[in-house]
Amino acid sequence: MKIHKACIIGGTGFVGHHLVPKFANAGIECRIPARRPHRYTSLEVQPGCELTMLGQLDVASLKSQFDGCDAVINLLGILNESNSCSFEEIHVEAAEKILEAAQQSGVKRLLHMSALNADETNGASNYLKSKGKGENLMLMQSSNDVKVTSFRPSVIFGGNDSFINRFAQLMMIPGPLPLACAGAKFSPVYVGDVTAAFLRALTDASTFGKSYELCGPRTLTLQEIVEYIAHIKGMHKNVIALGDAMSRLQAKILGVMPGKPFTMDNYNSLQQPSVCTHNGLQQLGITATDMDAIVPRMFS
Ligand SMILES: NC(=O)c1ccc[n+]([C@@H]2O[C@H](COP(=O)([O-])OP(=O)(O)OC[C@H]3O[C@@H](n4cnc5c(N)ncnc54)[C@H](OP(=O)(O)O)[C@@H]3O)[C@@H](O)[C@H]2O)c1
Repeated sequence: MKIHKACIIGGTGFVGHHLVPKFANAGIECRIPARRPHRYTSLEVQPGCELTMLGQLDVASLKSQFDGCDAVINLLGILNESNSCSFEEIHVEAAEKILEAAQQSGVKRLLHMSALNADETNGASNYLKSKGKGENLMLMQSSNDVKVTSFRPSVIFGGNDSFINRFAQLMMIPGPLPLACAGAKFSPVYVGDVTAAFLRALTDASTFGKSYELCGPRTLTLQEIVEYIAHIKGMHKNVIALGDAMSRLQAKILGVMPGKPFTMDNYNSLQQPSVCTHNGLQQLGITATDMDAIVPRMFS
């Protein structure tokens, strides 16, 4: 299967900004539908890449975006619901429409971004349940015409991420840092490895119909990650690990603040360790990159 052109839905986000250059360097042209294309003109600098106006997330509009593409990549995602947008709409209904539009457009290949611990029935949060439902329908409703592969990363780190950078910013606030869910476990995976997995799987028939967990080489608690960031930044930060009741209280308060920095649904997601059972990076022949190789450069 040769891929000349891919349409990357959700390509204007953190992962998309790393995936587009990876594909462009591999000679794959990218179409990136965007709600506000004027904000993302840097993506168009990549050879063969174009930004288009993303209208409604309906089958007809999506189909017109997919015309002339050999592959579709679905990176759409939200961490919190808003008045205008629910998990069901973005993770389930949009996924279903993307699949249908791909089928109608004659697209043969679809890569879908899920999340570690996504589970339609037993997911710890509404985020994880909706991610599981979207992933299931992608893998189960795909026909012989469209070959689907799904990816389930732990938290992803790298330039302009919203995880390491967020805690780095919080550290700049004077005084101790009260940390909810400090014992939550992650195996942070480097965005360059995630995009390498997408590129590797794109034309590899052995990945069709499969789902790959993606993890970095180290498992750390949230507190260890925050202390690691402080160490890299050369700061001494007093981290106060909040107990369960205080973590819930923080989620309840921050969940009603503008931008919802931390919600009860986020709290629920963190109750389950975000660690791999089988690391798909190994299965795909990719050596997982350690944070030591990347994070110091993010702050230099
Ligand atoms: N980052 C992580 O640590 C992580 C971990 C596990 C799984 N994932 C999954 O990986 C995927 C990419 O993550 P990311 O970190 O790149 O996310 P991100 O930076 O938040 O980007 C999300 C993308 O979805 C688009 N989007 C969100 N709501 C939309 C709506 N209502 N209509 C149209 N487009 C909408 C955004 O468009 P705008 O630019 O217009 O807002 C953006 O292109 C997501 O599916 C996420 O759930 C991420």
